[in-house]
Formats: sequence, C-alpha cells, structure tokens
Amino acid sequence: MKALVLSGGKGTRLRPLTHTSAKQLVPIANKSILFYCLESISEAGIKDVGIIVGDTHQEIKDAVKDGSVWGLQITYIKQDAPLGIAHAVKIAQDFIQDDDFVVFLGDNLIRGGIKGFVNEFSARKSNCQILLAQVAHPQEYGVAYLQEGRVLKLEEKPKNPKTDLALVGVYMFDSHIFEAVGAIKPSRRNELEITDAIQYLLDAGYQVNSHIIDGWWKDTGKLEDLLEANRLMLDSFTGSIQGEVDSDSQIEGRVVIQKGAKIINSRIRGPVIIGENTQIINSYIGPFTSINYNVKIENSEIEHSVILEESAIMDIPAKIADTLIGKNVQITRSNHKPRAYRFMLGDNSQVWL
Ligand code: DAU
Repeated sequence: MKALVLSGGKGTRLRPLTHTSAKQLVPIANKSILFYCLESISEAGIKDVGIIVGDTHQEIKDAVKDGSVWGLQITYIKQDAPLGIAHAVKIAQDFIQDDDFVVFLGDNLIRGGIKGFVNEFSARKSNCQILLAQVAHPQEYGVAYLQEGRVLKLEEKPKNPKTDLALVGVYMFDSHIFEAVGAIKPSRRNELEITDAIQYLLDAGYQVNSHIIDGWWKDTGKLEDLLEANRLMLDSFTGSIQGEVDSDSQIEGRVVIQKGAKIINSRIRGPVIIGENTQIINSYIGPFTSINYNVKIENSEIEHSVILEESAIMDIPAKIADTLIGKNVQITRSNHKPRAYRFMLGDNSQVWL
C-alpha cells in the first residue's frame, strides 16, 4: 500500500497568503495542515508516500524533507500545472506501479485519521473506496448519490445537488484507476476530475464502496473553513504550560503555552495555543485563537483568529476577531497626523473595518 499526497494547486481562495506560501503549509493550532495528513498516513501503517508538488515545491520540500520524522519515505513528483486531481494520479503511475494506494488532498484535515478507512479497503478488496461527509453546502464539493448504501453516481460541484453527501479528499484505489484517468477528458474548469475518473469506474462495472466519516472533516481552502478547523482542533487539546506566565496574568481553560513564550499582565481564555518565543503583553487572547512563534501582541484583544509567525499587533483599540494574519505582518496604531487609516497590503488582501 502506498500514499499519494496532493500538495500542488494554486490556493486562490486563501490569497494573499498563498501568493508566497503553499496553502497546505498554513498552520492549524500551530501545525501545518500537511503535517496532520502525513501523520495520519503514518498511523495507518503506510510508509511509501509520493507528494505531488507544483510551484511551491521548494517550500514543501524544506518543510517535509525526507519524511523520516514520521517514519515515511518520500518521493516528490513535480506537476507542471494544476491540471486536476486525476491528472496528479496519472503522473504518479510510475511511483505507484501495481500497488493499492490512498490519495490524500493536502489541504484536507480529518480528525480521527484514516486508519479505519484504509483497513476497510484492504479487507473489502474493492477497486475504489470513497469517503463521504454530510455538509451544509454540497454545491462546493464533489457529491455522491447513494441507494441503499450503494454508490450510484458522482458529480463535481453541481449547481443544484440533490444530496448533502460530499466527497472528502481521501480516496482509495487499486491500479484500475489508471485506466480511468487515461480515458476521461478535461472538465469545464479544464481539469481532469477525480470524480469523473471514479464515475468511469462505476460505469465500467468496477466496484466502488463508500464510507461515511465518523469524526469531523474540513477542506481548509477558504478562510471560514480554516478558522473552523482551527476551532475544532483547539477544542480537542488539553492545556500545557511550558513558557512563562507572570503573576499579573490569568490563564482560563485549556491553554497551550509553548517553550520560551512570555505572558505578561494578560488574560488568556482557552482553548488557545501560544507559540514558541511569542510575547503577549497587556492583552486579552480569547477562545479559539492560535498564535504562532516569535509573535508580539501588546495592548490588544484577539479572539477566534490565526496569527502566523513573526507578526506584531500593537495598541489596537478594538477587538480583532475571525481573522487570519500571515507571516511577518505589522499592525500598529500610528500617531502620525492627520489621523488616518494607513495600509500597505498585498494583492488580493481583504480588510474589514
Ligand atoms: O476537499 C474535497 C474536494 O476536493 C472534493 O469534494 C472535490 O470533489 C475535489 O474535486 C476537490 O475539490 P477542490 O476544488 O476543493 O480541489 P482543489 O483544487 O482545492 O485541490 C485539492 C488539493 O489538491 C489541494 O491541496 C491542491 C491539490 N492539487 C489540486 C489540483 C487541481 C494538486 O496538487 N494538483 C492539481 O492539479
């Protein structure tokens, strides 16, 4: 059994962060989404992993390296353009050879891992197994129509879906999928769709099983989903304090304070994670917030947010909420006259005042 992780693509919905970084490396509770994925592959007993990389290949390689921290052996497979999930499968054929394999989309986060799903595929010996979850907006996903548990039909992002069962970004295949990805044609969005490839398997009479997810699942491609994934992940944490908390500060609920962090005259209300060497001074950090390493927050209030490394937020008079802030961002109050909002924002930034 092998694994194929997709870490290419464009990440347009998380711009401007993804102008400079891979979307799969955005941290949830201070750990890259891709690392959760590699962990769950390792937990499922799979060692041989191919990672599809695109323009952000160097960043992905610098982060994952040879995969030995997870006990994995990694092969990087370059995809010249994001021509679809089925295209990524197609170019991985030399790596996969005749093995069964799991495809894991590198921006999907699955609480509870994939061990049960992988074991079920090995036990049932079908040609393909899909993972499904009930969602509120099925039109944003590939969807599956079932009859008495049997998969009848799949559709990619239908305008008017008549089911609420979405395809989660984890799929199991045997080598018949290579026949399917060779036969299908590009879709309206000019991609070789994995949903079309699985539909080909159904039409050709191959056995496609489905498994409805037990825990929660998030496709972290959009801001709201990323914040929600952060909330769900932090909610499953227990607290631990490795940094310093001074006697004027209050820690409430489950709070993780990583090594070298300093909390000075501040209130932290969990679930929260504060990264290494971050300083929180005269501030309030509210529930469901992840603050990464080397950040400085002073005289400010933040909740339900994700703040990446090396950023600083100082003297902000109103509460910051539902926010994602990239690396090395500075937000400060200025005393310059005339009093005005002053911005220097990258392309595709969004500001809500
Ligand atoms: O998240 C689940 C959904 O993922 C499924 O419900 C859909 O059926 C499936 O098509 C897919 O939809 P998305 O439109 O969300 O896929 P996205 O383009 O975001 O790509 C998913 C991951 O795969 C992402 O980490 C980027 C990577 N990727 C994507 C493409 C198209 C590649 O590495 N290469 C590619 O060519």
